Amino acid sequence: MLNKIPYSLKFLLIGSCIYTVFVLAYTLLVQPGNAQHKGDLSTGERLFKKNCSGCHLSGGNLIKAEKSIIGSKKILSKAVFKDFIDNPPPPMPKFKNLTSNPEQFNELYKYVTSLMGK
Ligand code: HEC
Repeated sequence: MLNKIPYSLKFLLIGSCIYTVFVLAYTLLVQPGNAQHKGDLSTGERLFKKNCSGCHLSGGNLIKAEKSIIGSKKILSKAVFKDFIDNPPPPMPKFKNLTSNPEQFNELYKYVTSLMGK
């Protein structure tokens, strides 16, 4: 049966097989890498949802609307952000528990700055 198929069609068939293999390999090998990348952010997202979202839903500010996180100068550098959440003006609580853990603090900072792009 294969003998009846013209050469060009065979090439096309083989071509699409190779293409499928590449697409599959890409999906299986590269996509999990991306998922991993998103995973990086989700620790920060989790910390934010647990500690900040109550007042800063989606990076805004439910208590003082003009003091939103998005656009805030307090997140332009990690050092300024740390000083701020260590000792913010009330009613925002202090978050020394977060800043004293460099790994958690890093993740939180990454997430907070990522809000700017949303
Ligand atoms: C109980 C409510 C509350 C919680 C919880 C809270 N904040 Fe705030 N936040 C505020 C208020 C109110 C202000 C404005 C303070 C002021 O008067 O300057 C503020 C201000 C800020 C600002 C500075 C905005 C600006 O430019 O003036 C940042 C950044 C910020 N919060 C980040 C966070 C982060 C990160 C968390 C979680 C770790 C958090 N906040 C948790 C109430 C809260």
